Amino acid sequence: MRQFRLHHLLLHTATLLLLLRPSTSDITSDRAALLALRSALGGRVLLWNLSSPTPCTWAGVTCSTDNSSVIELRLPGMGLSGTLPPNTVSNLTSLQTLSLRYNALSGPLPADLFFSLSFLRSLYIQQNFFSGPIPDSLFSVTSLVRVNLAENNFSGPISSGFNNLTRLGTLYLQENHFSGSIPELDLPSLVQFNVSYNNLDGKIPKSLSGKPKSSFLGNSLCGDPLDNSCGNEKHKKKLSGAAIAGIVAGSVIGLLLMLLLVFCLCRKLGTKGTGKKEEGGVRGKEVDTSMDKTVERGGKDSMRAKEKEKGEVSVITSVKKGLVFFGKTGWNFDLEDLLRASAEVLGKGTFGTSYKAVLETGLAVAVKRLRGVNMGEKEFREKMEEIGKMDNENMVPLMAYYHNKDEKLLVYDYLPIGSLSALLHGNKGAGRTPLNWETRVAIALGAARGVSFLHSQGPKISHGSIKSSNILLTKSYEARVSDFGLAQLAEPTLTPNRVSGYRAPEITDPCKVSQKADVYSFGVLLLEMLTGKAPTHEEGVNLPRWVESVVKDEWTAEVFDLELLRYQNVEEDMVRLLQLAVECAAQYPDKRPSMAEVTSKIEEIYRSRLQDPSGDIVNVIFDSPTL
Ligand SMILES: *[C@@H]1O[C@H](CO)[C@@H](O)[C@H](O)[C@H]1NC(C)=O
Ligand SMILES: *[C@@H]1O[C@H](CO)[C@@H](O)[C@H](O)[C@H]1NC(C)=O
Ligand SMILES: *[C@@H]1O[C@H](CO)[C@@H](O)[C@H](O)[C@H]1NC(C)=O
Ligand SMILES: *[C@@H]1O[C@H](CO)[C@@H](O)[C@H](O)[C@H]1NC(C)=O
Ligand SMILES: *[C@@H]1O[C@H](CO)[C@@H](O)[C@H](O)[C@H]1NC(C)=O
Ligand SMILES: *[C@@H]1O[C@H](CO)[C@@H](O)[C@H](O)[C@H]1NC(C)=O
Repeated sequence: MRQFRLHHLLLHTATLLLLLRPSTSDITSDRAALLALRSALGGRVLLWNLSSPTPCTWAGVTCSTDNSSVIELRLPGMGLSGTLPPNTVSNLTSLQTLSLRYNALSGPLPADLFFSLSFLRSLYIQQNFFSGPIPDSLFSVTSLVRVNLAENNFSGPISSGFNNLTRLGTLYLQENHFSGSIPELDLPSLVQFNVSYNNLDGKIPKSLSGKPKSSFLGNSLCGDPLDNSCGNEKHKKKLSGAAIAGIVAGSVIGLLLMLLLVFCLCRKLGTKGTGKKEEGGVRGKEVDTSMDKTVERGGKDSMRAKEKEKGEVSVITSVKKGLVFFGKTGWNFDLEDLLRASAEVLGKGTFGTSYKAVLETGLAVAVKRLRGVNMGEKEFREKMEEIGKMDNENMVPLMAYYHNKDEKLLVYDYLPIGSLSALLHGNKGAGRTPLNWETRVAIALGAARGVSFLHSQGPKISHGSIKSSNILLTKSYEARVSDFGLAQLAEPTLTPNRVSGYRAPEITDPCKVSQKADVYSFGVLLLEMLTGKAPTHEEGVNLPRWVESVVKDEWTAEVFDLELLRYQNVEEDMVRLLQLAVECAAQYPDKRPSMAEVTSKIEEIYRSRLQDPSGDIVNVIFDSPTL
């Protein structure tokens, strides 16, 4: 019976595999098609070893992993000329990437070119002399993500058939002879779009009015984003000299007012800061600003000894009992045990110093020593209970706390891998293990779920301090959100600029952070994961605006962390996550999605990694000149 079933299963799988095979293409016919192409083209001869039975070793040719078909043909800048004959490239039915850019190819594209290329994702044929219209067969290739026809001699209209290509992220048509008006293009993934220097006229459709001006240069177009509006508003009044003078004067006065305001604010913050320090009695231990990423893994002293070094031993030893536990920890220790534990400093954060404490029983816990708590005991205990109640698999739950007049300790599970911040920015040297894309997406998803859970507990409940040093990782690199709720009970003891990289622009009081402000911080966190740049690193770096400016100018690989560029086949997902991050970090709170929406979008991206049918191709967004 079992054998039958196995047999049945195998049969089934084999049938499935047959069905899943991209097409009838086999390597022999692909080889024949390539040879026909080679002999039809002029210019420099492709130096392919013709005695090789398989084309998979030929320069510019990439085969599927089982060598059964050609999936990429990249011949950029090879000095090729002549026209593309029918029945050549079009016979490479498994092709996913076609790059013929920067050659001297001319003539129209053969009408059959795209009929059978139903797996094509990237088409790079810019910088040639191709002419004639875009063949209609292109609009049936719904797998297309990148289309670059720029700097050719193409003519005819821009077809609304592009609307069929729903996955399109890039459409470059600049510097051709396309004419007519631009059709309404409803392509949600379209990020890179350029029709500059063609013969286009008419109104720019609404769906494209959000693209930069430089996408539409050198045409007779009108409407947003261009300055010339459509219709008969020919005699727009020029600004008079007086008006200009008025505007200039106004701006200058505005600027002066703003400077004055900033000056006053800074002074106020300055005095407030010092006052707090004296009041809290933090004995001039200034916090090391490089802290978030450095983790002092020094020798193991007892926590008490550590405190002694700092001359603060009296504070701790005066404490006897009163450790309040939450939840089902099964922990069996008291404050004495905790204080006897061997400890090392994990880091000094916004709200106090964290220690790893290893109890005599071998149990390791993380202890956070709060500083600058700005509420009374009753309020504090209530707050702790509120925090203690929040328990979710994507959070670091508060296990216990201690409170007395001088000392507030929070006890958490100890997570050995540390924070996302350390993972992203720490150990940049030779021994660094790059953080791969899958791990990053999984971490983003875990963090999003944690924050989402918090937000689902009530409209007033927010995290308040989302940043990479507050995303901790388990041994299997699952993300856990930590430090929930601390923003509301402890005033940050640090200079504002350290946290400000994550802080939503509308926030005036760091103790009052809305859910939408959390979303902003989460967007910055995503950008940090994508770019590898720390928003808190330098003063004045605004990661969201930096990314926006790079993306607006010209979409380049520069945005992304170099470490990510080595991973294959993720560009689409990277762009999707980037778009989401930019939405989260929108200037206006109303424009930001909810955390639940953010989570489901990341879930989609996460799942698409498992489902993408063309899952084995090489990274193509950055069709780099070296290829
Ligand atoms: C391309 O495919 C067509 C149809 O299958 C076939 O007739 C033709 O010979 C092929 N071309 C080459 C160069 O193999
Ligand atoms: C060309 O391919 C043949 C067959 O695979 C091989 O024996 C020969 O060494 C190759 N020639 C060169 C120059 O690589
Ligand atoms: C595919 O071809 C390449 C180059 O000829 C060869 O190195 C590789 O081992 C082949 N892979 C398989 C699975 O046959
Ligand atoms: C480009 O097309 C125009 C007509 O559309 C033609 O006059 C010109 O010669 C073509 N240029 C090249 C290099 O093919
Ligand atoms: C767009 O796709 C539909 C359905 O796949 C097809 O019928 C139609 O011809 C396509 N449009 C163009 C312009 O190819
Ligand atoms: C579009 O192409 C033109 C000409 O190549 C270039 O000047 C412009 O910067 C491009 N704009 C965008 C947004 O790509």
